[in-house]
Amino acid sequence: MTRPRLASFLISTAYIALILLAAPITRTPAQIAVPDARPVDGATLFKQQCAACHATGKNDAPRQGPELANIVGRRAGSVAGFKYSAGFAKADFVWSDDKLDAWLANPQAVIPGAIMVYRQANAATRAALIAYLKELH
Ligand code: HEC
Repeated sequence: MTRPRLASFLISTAYIALILLAAPITRTPAQIAVPDARPVDGATLFKQQCAACHATGKNDAPRQGPELANIVGRRAGSVAGFKYSAGFAKADFVWSDDKLDAWLANPQAVIPGAIMVYRQANAATRAALIAYLKELH
């Protein structure tokens, strides 16, 4: 090889090597659009986690649990015709944010012997649910 040819050979070899080295970086798979974490939506959470057992209208038939219209500010165990577990007879309180928060975290800790099979350990999820419960009139 003549000198100029060798030089251009080396340059192009180096160039190709660079391209090959860079390829794995530039060829990362097309960005897959990952949806942003959805904001916690109380209405959706309620549908997913409560609605199988609770209706939301004042005159709705009870499901496994009582309807929850006006639940925030409502006396515990007060839906006429719903057969609550025995502990509700002694539950002398009105449902507040705090009571509901404790209830959703662990119903039996609020009313011993309560038969609601549900526990929500995530405080943000409980808060979103309670915000939604306030809209039930
Ligand atoms: C598997 C069925 C079930 C699920 C799921 C469930 N509950 Fe209940 N819930 C019940 C039952 C049954 C009772 C009555 C408990 C008793 O008598 O001991 C009850 C009672 C309640 C009460 C007390 C009502 C009153 O009149 O004092 C509230 C408040 C409540 N549930 C809210 C919720 C919310 C909010 C959710 C969803 C995050 C939920 N529940 C999920 C079955 C359920």
